Amino acid sequence: MPVITIANTKGGAGKTTAAVLIATELAQMGLNVTVFDSDPQHWFSQWFETARPRGTISLVNHVTASALEGHMRHMDHAQNYYIIDLAGERNQLTATALAFSDHVLIPVQGAGMDAKGAAKILDILARIKDETGMDIPHSVLLSRVNPMVTTHSLLAIKGLLAQRGVEVMATPVVERAAYREMFDKGVTLHDMDPAKVSNLDKALQNARQLADEVMRHLPVRVISTTPRKRPWFFGRAA
Ligand SMILES: Nc1ncnc2c1ncn2[C@@H]1O[C@H](COP(=O)(O)OP(=O)(O)OP(=O)(O)O)[C@@H](O)[C@H]1O
Ligand SMILES: [Mg+2]
Repeated sequence: MPVITIANTKGGAGKTTAAVLIATELAQMGLNVTVFDSDPQHWFSQWFETARPRGTISLVNHVTASALEGHMRHMDHAQNYYIIDLAGERNQLTATALAFSDHVLIPVQGAGMDAKGAAKILDILARIKDETGMDIPHSVLLSRVNPMVTTHSLLAIKGLLAQRGVEVMATPVVERAAYREMFDKGVTLHDMDPAKVSNLDKALQNARQLADEVMRHLPVRVISTTPRKRPWFFGRAA
């Protein structure tokens, strides 16, 4: 059961949007997903309470670093994916979540502050590698990408980041009214009326492509025999 953490210390980078899209799509495919809402503002949980997404998404709220560590050590084998939605800050929980991750997704809107928030996550990942030898896979997820941006200029951005050794998800999260509406109305994309929400089909397609890419990076493991890493010393030092 792969653990995917969505992290950027900058608020508003698109973390919770990505968490909602990925969790909803994986659950639509019939997979069991557990989401840890570790944000004291509970954006994911608030959405979840009203949206009541179909499929099996379990929510763990009020997550502390030690509670998360407990969950990670005693993973529920019935779960196919764990998704950790981090708050837009850097604290003990950030380091603990990153250290337990199989993959870290770092949403970046392209704005300067987002990039700084992303750099802080990359710094923590580099420290984890230095101190524990664990090289945790991670990718930048381009978020709120203008739908008019051409494939060509997206490739240029990806090329630039690749030159700096940063992996970039092939699927960006495009700026869509439907994604704002999910939170404004407390619904899933699948419960929206295509006649009322512009480009809902494209929003759905984008969400599905993103979930498919996540699954390619992290195929479902039916039974995990590998004991979870125990990076307690790192979590404490962060
Ligand atoms: N692709 C998108 N299209 C349209 N609106 C978006 C998109 N991504 C994010 N938003 C909007 O931007 C705002 C911030 O997004 P989101 O809550 O996902 O960011 P976050 O990184 O989780 O922020 P925080 O750190 O505060 O938790 C929300 O109002 C959301 O609806
Ligand atoms: Mg959030």
